[in-house]
Amino acid sequence: MIAAILITLLCFCSLHPTFGQDCPSRQEIQGSLKQVQKLLSAHEASYLQSLRNLKKKINLLQSSTGKQTTRAINSTCPKLDAPINGRKLGKSHGVGHEVHVLCDPGYELVGSESRVCQESLTWSGQQSTCRDINECASSPCQNGGTCVDEVNHFSCVCAKGWAGATCQSPTPTFFVTMTNTSAATSPATAAAATLPAATTGPFVRPSRCTIMQGTTHCTCEPGYTISGRDSNTCTDIDECELFHNGQAGRLCLHTCVNTPGGYRCSCPIGYNVTRDGRSCKDIDECATRQNNCTKDQMCINTYGGFQCVQVDCPKIPNATYVKTSPMRCERNPCPVDNKACSQTPNSFSYHYLAVVSNLSAPRVMFRVSALRPMGDTLRFSLLGGRQARRHFTVQRSDRVTGQLMLASPVQGPATLEAEVEMSELERRVQLGRYITKVTMFVSQYEF
Ligand SMILES: *[C@@H]1O[C@H](CO)[C@@H](O)[C@H](O)[C@H]1NC(C)=O
Ligand SMILES: *[C@@H]1O[C@H](CO)[C@@H](O)[C@H](O)[C@H]1NC(C)=O
Ligand SMILES: *[C@@H]1O[C@H](CO)[C@@H](O)[C@H](O)[C@H]1NC(C)=O
Ligand SMILES: *[C@@H]1O[C@H](CO)[C@@H](O)[C@H](O)[C@H]1NC(C)=O
Ligand SMILES: *[C@@H]1O[C@H](CO)[C@@H](O)[C@H](O)[C@H]1NC(C)=O
Ligand SMILES: *[C@@H]1O[C@H](CO)[C@@H](O)[C@H](O)[C@H]1NC(C)=O
Repeated sequence: MIAAILITLLCFCSLHPTFGQDCPSRQEIQGSLKQVQKLLSAHEASYLQSLRNLKKKINLLQSSTGKQTTRAINSTCPKLDAPINGRKLGKSHGVGHEVHVLCDPGYELVGSESRVCQESLTWSGQQSTCRDINECASSPCQNGGTCVDEVNHFSCVCAKGWAGATCQSPTPTFFVTMTNTSAATSPATAAAATLPAATTGPFVRPSRCTIMQGTTHCTCEPGYTISGRDSNTCTDIDECELFHNGQAGRLCLHTCVNTPGGYRCSCPIGYNVTRDGRSCKDIDECATRQNNCTKDQMCINTYGGFQCVQVDCPKIPNATYVKTSPMRCERNPCPVDNKACSQTPNSFSYHYLAVVSNLSAPRVMFRVSALRPMGDTLRFSLLGGRQARRHFTVQRSDRVTGQLMLASPVQGPATLEAEVEMSELERRVQLGRYITKVTMFVSQYEF
């Protein structure tokens, strides 16, 4: 700055030599120039010095960033591909980073769900693949039906005489052949003829005979058959016995009651016979006044009955809970710095499921989802004792959802309990824990 001003001053004078008096004398100029020279060389020296310092710093910086990039190259694990029929969550392959593997619906995970890039630059756990769930593994098709496994579901090809999703219902074909057929020709009546014949009462009726071209032709009302030797008497066909076939509940889902000329099905307490007369449907005691639950209780309809449940918030040391809805308790805010309190679950949710006995498994019973996940990781786990572990497993179904799976069929009547914990983490520090308690009421019957 100083040098620049001085230089302009000098130029101005040299360009206008005519104005001699206005310019300083030659001696004065020489003196000034010497001063400027001194100043300049001092500036040059300090300028060079700072330049050297700057260079040094740049070199240091360059070598350190160089080292960092080589270290970065060496501290990643080998690339992990997403499995076929699945997805991979987590893009970073650096040391300490976690990758999750999720399978598409209908596929189950084989290997590790989470894998961490270790210091040794290898992934923890086993290689993860997604395998088609074999829905036929539990032999869901009954009565000789053939199971066909498809992605995410199965279908049954039923044996002759059976129908329904799992071939559980006999196809009602026989009654058509029973009406107004003459004796001894139909296979159904032939079988009926071997039954012990009642001699009196509503189970015996006279036959109707006509003589055509010299031969007597006798017929019975529907549900009756000519009994043995006497073509004048018709006896009731015991459909329950005839179609019993050694296995109960084929003609009827539950109990078959023989009636004069027919039969009817009856159902256990808690069920009503369906419109088709052969199956049983659960009566919803909670929808009607057929339950005695108190006002504080909630009525849960189950197959064949009902349960009165009452949600009481848990009593846990160092924390207090308040009911925020009939099925949910949330923790009151913790005092600042109370670590024991902040580590207790943030909430407890209660869910009640009613299922039939011997439900085919594996199947998803319940899903738990995080609506607005806050951390970088969600973990789902099964709590509860050995009973829970014997019947249930917990799996992840997508990034924010865990599912409670029934692992094997359960014979009722029974009540099973399981707890699913969802924990939210940010850089491996726990942000919150949420507990879902699931109670499963298993009925006595398979319908
Ligand atoms: C880092 O990796 C490079 C090439 O991949 C290799 O030449 C170098 O030796 C490695 N350094 C260390 C410290 O392992
Ligand atoms: C069955 O037989 C009865 C008399 O035995 C007769 O009244 C009725 O019309 C017959 N029904 C049919 C479908 O043939
Ligand atoms: C079930 O059957 C009983 C007696 O037959 C009847 O009173 C009741 O209305 C039925 N309930 C339903 C839900 O059909
Ligand atoms: C409801 O009735 C059943 C018997 O019908 C009884 O065992 C049960 O204790 C009753 N529950 C309540 C809450 O009164
Ligand atoms: C937690 O509760 C236990 C038992 O009630 C008590 O002894 C302990 O001091 C509490 N801890 C904190 C941090 O309040
Ligand atoms: C349970 O179901 C399976 C297949 O559906 C069947 O084979 C088995 O007999 C059933 N068990 C009972 C106790 O009913």
